[in-house]
Amino acid sequence: MNDLDQLLQTAQADFAAAATPAELENAKAKFIGKSGCVTELMKGLAALSIAEKKTRGAAINVLKTGIEAALTARRQAMADAELAEQLKAEALDVSLPGRSRGTGGLHPITRAMERIEAIFGSMGFDVADGPEIENDWFNFTALNTPADHPARSMHDTFYVEGGHVLRTHTSPMQIRYAVQHVKRHQALIDAGQSMPEIRVIAPGRTYRVDSDATHSPMFHQVEGLWVGENISFKDLKSVYVNFMQQFFETTDMEIRFRPSYFPFTEPSAEIDMMFGSGPLKGRWLEVSGSGQVHPQVIRNMGLDPERYIGFAFGSGIDRLAMLRYGVNDLRLFFDGDLRFLAQFK
Ligand code: DAH
Repeated sequence: MNDLDQLLQTAQADFAAAATPAELENAKAKFIGKSGCVTELMKGLAALSIAEKKTRGAAINVLKTGIEAALTARRQAMADAELAEQLKAEALDVSLPGRSRGTGGLHPITRAMERIEAIFGSMGFDVADGPEIENDWFNFTALNTPADHPARSMHDTFYVEGGHVLRTHTSPMQIRYAVQHVKRHQALIDAGQSMPEIRVIAPGRTYRVDSDATHSPMFHQVEGLWVGENISFKDLKSVYVNFMQQFFETTDMEIRFRPSYFPFTEPSAEIDMMFGSGPLKGRWLEVSGSGQVHPQVIRNMGLDPERYIGFAFGSGIDRLAMLRYGVNDLRLFFDGDLRFLAQFK
């Protein structure tokens, strides 16, 4: 092996030994830098004869090309290694399943409410919403339940400071909604003309001091009210039966109106239902209070009871949801246990 081949091998070995790009550039300088070996070899040509210069010069050029090739190869290898390292560090396992956001679902009570709103909406009922902290007038007095009325003790009322109560039922919405409705149509009413009918439901939270498997201090009711010039008990029956059949998606049930008492209706009825099949078959279940709106309540709405008449009902939504979903303990709805709630998604 001649000296030039020797030099090429040394350069290749040095380049291979360089661990970083900086080391590689230093090694390069040693061989093909301005004062590197190749330059020195070129200087040595001066002392040679013309014929010798030719062959020696050509051989040095071959060496230089060889060193440059080795350098380029080493640079490329380093760049490739660096890229491979980086790719490895940033590696993604695209076969791993993605981390999804947990999907939520509507609470069964919310679902029952939406269902009720859709059914009554299809029958032309408006949906209204009102305050849960109520005053005495709307919760009791306007509903023909004055301060000394024994019916007040039937409601285990939560009293709030300042003479307010947590509404014990959704019935105050009858007055609130009707008063607004009457105000909107006062000109017609004053002119002795017919007012558009009041047809509304008001679902929402209600409160009573009560707690067991079928009672919660916070529960849900839906109030219904239909007032016009010619609304009778048979309208209550047909509307409510229609509602129940749609809510439970069956006509295989019986519904009865059992005489009862509420201060704000006369006559009054308790509505019971009985499934014709299924686990609850043959058992009467109480689902609602109802009745023909009391003349005093019609008056408190700002209407003439000689002209206007209607019906109202107030149903327990939690009860309806329990029956629909087959839940036997009301408290499950409000415990916030996802194992229970996720079943309704
Ligand atoms: N508000 C009554 C209650 O909570 C239920 C009720 C009965 C509502 C008769 C009505 C009705 O609208 O007409 O016990």
